[in-house]
Amino acid sequence: LFYYQNYMQKIGLFYGTSTGSTAQAAKKIQSYLGAENVDIFNIQSATKKDIEKYKNLIFGTSSWGIGDLQEDWANFAPQFNDINLEGKTVALYGLGDQETYFDSFVDAMGKLYKIVQHRGATIVGEWSKVGYDFAASEALKDSETFVGLALDEDNQSELSNRRIERWAENLKAYFK
Ligand SMILES: Cc1cc2nc3c(=O)[nH]c(=O)nc-3n(C[C@H](O)[C@H](O)[C@H](O)COP(=O)(O)O)c2cc1C
Repeated sequence: LFYYQNYMQKIGLFYGTSTGSTAQAAKKIQSYLGAENVDIFNIQSATKKDIEKYKNLIFGTSSWGIGDLQEDWANFAPQFNDINLEGKTVALYGLGDQETYFDSFVDAMGKLYKIVQHRGATIVGEWSKVGYDFAASEALKDSETFVGLALDEDNQSELSNRRIERWAENLKAYFK
């Protein structure tokens, strides 16, 4: 039994991307958590069953329009009505552009948060807003904290690796 104390249960990582940035972040998250621990799915071709297989989940979305879910997540979202996430642990990450979309920065991550919370998941992986500069975000759970990891490849790509590394390190405690 002791052998398994630090064993991480497999994580299903589901992302939606329109220009590839959220997919690239998925690969980095996978490498920091250990390739053997994370299965990656593009939500464009994923099914309800793919999600149901995992106790531990990571969902990643970029924001489009004014704070909309990435298109493939928007198409998938109605299926959550038939997915029970009780007993599951979910971490969220969101990509956005805090300069151009300073009033809707990573809003889609906030939309995903509400969906997942409504389906009964335990949500982990909150993230401090220190180091970002924006006016408003639907992805804040309080005045200081995002519901998940916020990444900005448009303005702060040089910070992403370190952010992902620290966030992944925090997650290890929850994904056992
Ligand atoms: C037309 C358009 C609308 C966007 N809307 C938002 C937005 O409301 N909030 C935000 O934070 N980022 C917004 N973005 C920025 C993207 O989310 C960002 O570039 C992201 O890295 C794209 O990731 P993807 O390639 O995985 O889809 C928008 C970008 C474009 C081109």
